[in-house]
Amino acid sequence: MSSSHSQNMKIGIVGFGTFGQFLAKTIIKQGHTITATSRSDYSHLCLQMGIHFFSDMSAFLDAENDVILLCTSILSLAEVMRSMPLTCLKRPTLFVDVLSVKEHPRNLLLRTLPGELDILCTHPMFGPISGKDGWKDLTFMYDKVRIQDEAKCSRFLQIFETEGCRMVEMSCEEHDKAAARSQFITHTIGRTLGEMDIRSTPIDTKGFETLVQLKETTMKCSFDLYSGLFTHNRFAIQELENLEHALFKVKEMLVQRMKEEQGQEKTES
Ligand SMILES: NC(=O)c1ccc[n+]([C@@H]2O[C@H](COP(=O)([O-])OP(=O)(O)OC[C@H]3O[C@@H](n4cnc5c(N)ncnc54)[C@H](OP(=O)(O)O)[C@@H]3O)[C@@H](O)[C@H]2O)c1
Repeated sequence: MSSSHSQNMKIGIVGFGTFGQFLAKTIIKQGHTITATSRSDYSHLCLQMGIHFFSDMSAFLDAENDVILLCTSILSLAEVMRSMPLTCLKRPTLFVDVLSVKEHPRNLLLRTLPGELDILCTHPMFGPISGKDGWKDLTFMYDKVRIQDEAKCSRFLQIFETEGCRMVEMSCEEHDKAAARSQFITHTIGRTLGEMDIRSTPIDTKGFETLVQLKETTMKCSFDLYSGLFTHNRFAIQELENLEHALFKVKEMLVQRMKEEQGQEKTES
């Protein structure tokens, strides 16, 4: 019997870096079967995890997966899609991506995948640090971009529902608008604090402890990930300009107040 008729699915992960490995651990725990392929050789790690690793993309696609889960960097998705001989697929397959921007993979997948292949664009709004003790109440965003096999799509979404994620269905465009104002700004502040090399002091306030923590978690993400949030989200440039403008305005307010105080001191003396 095909695994598409049973509860457990066969899921092929493309891109077995930090995030691909993180997702794989929970998906395996739920009883699904995982295969993987990646630019680097993860055959040893995969052997330990009970995952069949393919260094050859054709053999990977030939392996009759129900779902292909794209976990590559934002910057490399186009190149990875070009390297896929899609004619090797033996059955209708659900393509899912987890990139932290959404219009870019949606447009690319619609352009490159033939109409009989389903597309689900998703963004788990958590990672190995925030999700280290489980995924309960963490947000999982998704957009059913092109779904013909609703049952298979639901079974895939169930992976995250089962873990207690807060499921949010939203268009890729709405995601990118919101993420530019939230996630991209968070990473930008974290990176900026990293540039300033902020460190704990003997007199940290709780607020400053939060900033040090923010710096540490954002600096753990690859620069490929961070720059992808900017280069492949059309709303990010405006938010970066808003941030620059806001910092400039705050500085102006302080300088203005200082001038007022200095003027007052002069008239008093
Ligand atoms: N980390 C998170 O918390 C998080 C959360 C939600 C979503 N995501 C998304 O998940 C994806 C993976 O994120 P990540 O944290 O693992 O780090 P990343 O730096 O964004 O991506 C690393 C992955 O991309 C692959 N890759 C990079 N350049 C490549 C190229 N030129 N050709 C083929 N493959 C290439 C790497 O393969 P090799 O390892 O084989 O070199 C690795 O699997 C990203 O799209 C990210 O936006 C991440």
